[in-house]
Amino acid sequence: MRWSIVLGGLVAIATAAAVVAFIVEPDAVGATSSSRGRELGKELFDRQCATCHGAGGRGDGPSAAGFATKPADLADGRLMNPLPDELLTNVIRRGGPAEGLAPTMPPFEKFLSESQTAQVVAYVRSLAQPPFRSAPPPLVRVAGAPRQPIFFNHVIHAGSFGIECQYCHADARRSEYAGLPSVTRCLGCHAIIGAQDNPEIRKIHDYASRREAIPWVRVFKVPEFTYFPHKPHVRAAVACQRCHGPIERMRVVGAETGQQLGNDLKRLIGLRPAPPPLTMGWCIDCHRAENAKGAKAPLDCVTCHH
Ligand code: HEC
Ligand code: HEC
Ligand code: HEC
Ligand code: HEC
Ligand code: HEC
Ligand code: HEC
Repeated sequence: MRWSIVLGGLVAIATAAAVVAFIVEPDAVGATSSSRGRELGKELFDRQCATCHGAGGRGDGPSAAGFATKPADLADGRLMNPLPDELLTNVIRRGGPAEGLAPTMPPFEKFLSESQTAQVVAYVRSLAQPPFRSAPPPLVRVAGAPRQPIFFNHVIHAGSFGIECQYCHADARRSEYAGLPSVTRCLGCHAIIGAQDNPEIRKIHDYASRREAIPWVRVFKVPEFTYFPHKPHVRAAVACQRCHGPIERMRVVGAETGQQLGNDLKRLIGLRPAPPPLTMGWCIDCHRAENAKGAKAPLDCVTCHH
C-alpha cells in the first residue's frame, strides 16, 4: 500500500519533470522540423542509398554482393558515431575517394542539394546502434599540411576504428623515435581490406611488390642539433595529443610549428604569447610546468643539445 503511494508519487514527479522539460525545451519547434527532415532523409535514402546500403543501412542492399569492399554498415554506431557530419557529407557529396575510400561509393552532389544531404545525414544518424547522442568534435585542418603519397586518414583509422596510436607508431615507448608503420604493417590489414577496388590501397601493394618504403613526408621535426626522445615522454604519460594536437581529427596531418611572425608582433605590443610547438620555449615551458608538479624534465642545455 505504502509502496504504491510512493510509486504513484514518483510517476507524478516524473510526469511533472517531463512536462517541465517539454515547456523549457527551447528547441521544441526545431525538434519537430528536424524530425520532418529525418523523414525526408528517409525517403531520399530509400531511393538513392538502400540499393547498396540496405533499407536499414546495414550494408546489405540488393547490389551489395557485387562489391569487393562492402558498402559501409551505416547502422554500426561504434564506427559511425565518432565521424563528424563534415566527413559524412563529404563522402556523400563527393564520393568515397574524397576521403580515401573506394570509388564504388559514388558522388551524389548532382542528385542531392546541400539541404537534402543534411537530411540524409540526419536519417543515417538515426539508424546508429548504439544511438548517436552528441555531435563529435569537428575536424581539424592545419594550413600547409603536406600532400602524402597515399591518402592515409587518421580520422578513419584512429578516430572511427579506434586503432591505438602505438599500434602503428610502435617505437614511441621504446626509443627516441615514434616511427612510422612499415608497408608490412599496413598489409597486415590491407592484404584484404580495400585491396581489390581502392586505388589508394593498391598503392600500398605496389610499394610492397617493389620492396620500397612508402615515402611519407615528415611533418614534425626538430633541428639536427637538438635531441628529442619519445620514450621518456611516453613513460611520463604525456599524451601524444599534447604535443601533436588532435591527430585523430585530422584528415591530413599538419602542424603549425616554429617561430611565427604573429607572435613577434604580439610581443611588440607587450603580450606574451605561448611559444609555438617545437620551439625551444615550448619545450622549456612544459618542462618547467611539469617540474613544478614533481617531474624531472631537463632544463640544462646539454641534455637537449649534445
Ligand atoms: C553503388 C553502391 C552505393 C550507393 C548507391 C551508396 N553507397 Fe555509400 N558506400 C558504398 C560503398 C561500397 C562504401 C564503402 C567504401 C569503403 O569503405 O571504401 C560506402 C561508404 C559510405 C559511407 C562511408 C562510411 C564510413 O565508414 O566512412 C557513407 C557515409 C555512405 N556510404 C553513405 C551513403 C549514402 C548516404 C548514400 C545515398 C545517398 C550512399 N552511401 C549510396 C556504396 C554505395
Ligand atoms: C589494424 C588494421 C589497419 C592497419 C594496420 C592499417 N589500416 Fe588502413 N584501414 C583499416 C580499416 C578498417 C579501414 C576502413 C576500411 C573501410 O571502411 O573501407 C582502412 C582504410 C584505409 C584507407 C581508405 C580510407 C582512408 O582511411 O584513407 C587507406 C588509404 C588506408 N587504410 C591506408 C592504410 C595505410 C597506408 C596503412 C599503413 C600505414 C594502413 N592503412 C594500416 C585498417 C587498417
Ligand atoms: C593505422 C596506422 C596509424 C595509426 C593507428 C595512427 N597513425 Fe599516425 N601516422 C600513420 C601514418 C601512415 C603516418 C604518415 C602519413 C601522415 O602523416 O598522415 C602517420 C603520421 C603521424 C604523425 C606525423 C608524423 C610526422 O611526419 O611528423 C603524427 C604526429 C602521428 N601520426 C600521430 C598519431 C597519433 C597521436 C595517433 C593516435 C591518435 C596515430 N598517429 C595513429 C599511421 C598511423
Ligand atoms: C613531449 C612532446 C611529444 C609527445 C608527448 C609525443 N611526441 Fe611525437 N614528436 C614530438 C617531436 C618534438 C617530434 C619531432 C622529433 C624529431 O624531429 O626528431 C615528434 C615526432 C613524431 C613522429 C614523426 C616520426 C618520428 O619517428 O619521430 C611521429 C610519428 C610521432 N611523433 C608520433 C607520436 C605518438 C604516436 C605519440 C604518443 C605515443 C607522440 N608522438 C608523443 C613530440 C612529441
Ligand atoms: C628542453 C630542451 C632544451 C633545452 C633544455 C635547451 N634547448 Fe636550446 N633548443 C631546443 C630546441 C627544440 C631548439 C630548436 C627549436 C628552436 O629553434 O626554437 C633549440 C634551439 C636552440 C638554439 C638555436 C636557436 C635558433 O634560433 O636557431 C640555441 C642557440 C639554443 N637552443 C641554445 C640553448 C642553450 C644555451 C640552452 C641552455 C641555457 C638550451 N638551448 C637549452 C631545446 C632545448
Ligand atoms: C607537454 C610537456 C612537454 C613538452 C612539450 C616537452 N617535454 Fe620533454 N619532458 C616532459 C616530461 C614530463 C618529461 C619526463 C620527466 C620525468 O621523467 O620526470 C620530459 C623529459 C625530457 C627529457 C629527458 C630524457 C631523459 O632521459 O631523462 C628530454 C631530453 C626532453 N624531455 C626533451 C624535450 C624536448 C627537446 C622538447 C621540445 C622539442 C620537449 N622535451 C618537450 C614534458 C614535455
